[in-house]
Amino acid sequence: MRIPEDVRRDIPLTSEVIYFDNTATSLTPKPVIEAMDEYYLRYRANVHRGVHRLSQMATHKYEESRKVVADFINARFEEVVFTKNTSESLNLVALGMEDIFRPGDRIVTTPYEHHSDLLPWQRLAGKKGLRLEFIEGDDGGNLDLSDAERKIRGAKLVAVQHVSNALGVIHEVEELGKMAEEEGAIFVVDAAQSAGHMEVDVRKLEADFLAFSGHKGPMGPTGIGVLYINEEFFEVFEPPLIGGGTIEDVDLDGYMPAEPPERFEAGTPNIGGAIGLAAGIRYIQKIGLDRIESQERKLVKRITEGLDELEVPWYGPRDLKKHAGVVSFNVPPLHPHDVAAILDERNIMVRSGHHCALPVIKKLGINGTVRASVHVYNSVEEVEIFLGVMEDLLRNLE
Ligand code: ALA
Repeated sequence: MRIPEDVRRDIPLTSEVIYFDNTATSLTPKPVIEAMDEYYLRYRANVHRGVHRLSQMATHKYEESRKVVADFINARFEEVVFTKNTSESLNLVALGMEDIFRPGDRIVTTPYEHHSDLLPWQRLAGKKGLRLEFIEGDDGGNLDLSDAERKIRGAKLVAVQHVSNALGVIHEVEELGKMAEEEGAIFVVDAAQSAGHMEVDVRKLEADFLAFSGHKGPMGPTGIGVLYINEEFFEVFEPPLIGGGTIEDVDLDGYMPAEPPERFEAGTPNIGGAIGLAAGIRYIQKIGLDRIESQERKLVKRITEGLDELEVPWYGPRDLKKHAGVVSFNVPPLHPHDVAAILDERNIMVRSGHHCALPVIKKLGINGTVRASVHVYNSVEEVEIFLGVMEDLLRNLE
């Protein structure tokens, strides 16, 4: 596949707008839409509940999708649980692991987390009398690894994002995973902004739990997410949701849970979503993660260089090896929303505001950022147009 031309051909919207809001959600290639169409048009039925052929077919495709996800993150089939999104996955971890905590236990995280990887721990800490500690880091999002080592010592759980949605920094999750492993701490990874953009291997990361959404990097639909549960936790993790599909046997006195993964998926799942997600993963595997990463690096290099030339302040690590395809910036004195609205008038889609990471914004002492985030289908020409528009915008400010 030629990058980005062939991918752009599969995504008609790329010829209409410059879409730089990939951190919020990515555009959908035709093969993903076709896979979901096929389900809805040719074998629409529920899974695990019927002997008729449509149900058999739906079950086969749904479970085949689970296998695609498992291979994608180097997990075992049973360790992959379909959820709605990253937020749901992380909330499930906090709720399902509640019983292992005793007052005074420590949870360690970072000040750069998305609210989805912060609020569930804050609530859990409040409920169980736990201490929530944050690894020190600078304004670029670079973590102090010696502080991490100190804080992880004796911690019960460590929860970190792989990539920051606000700053674009790629954290040293492999090192942090090793530290957690050595201390016997549970290691939870928020891979919302890394899955589909770079390698995510649950074994290399020594992750006990890992969460991501289908609609971002993997180019799947919204409403489908993944929770990886390391099999060592199958008996410890108490599923917060139970009912239809999660049992082996039930009588009026009680129930016997089903084996994983069914044990962890209550009710009818998002069948079309799982099939779409698998199609998205196959699609990005066809492109190749290494090529996705190098295209995004090329774009980020040019965006940051261009912003430097225009003297526009941008955030995140200066070391671009640590910078994923997300560039946050500001155009003082304009409010980030005004900049985003001006860019929209020029056909460029970016996100503005706090990006559901308010502690990051507060740490920087600003009221938000404008965020340009790329995927493999974005082109250098689009970056040049964006920089040209930014130049006009600055000229009009003078
Ligand atoms: N968390 C998503 C973002 O950063 C929605 O835009």
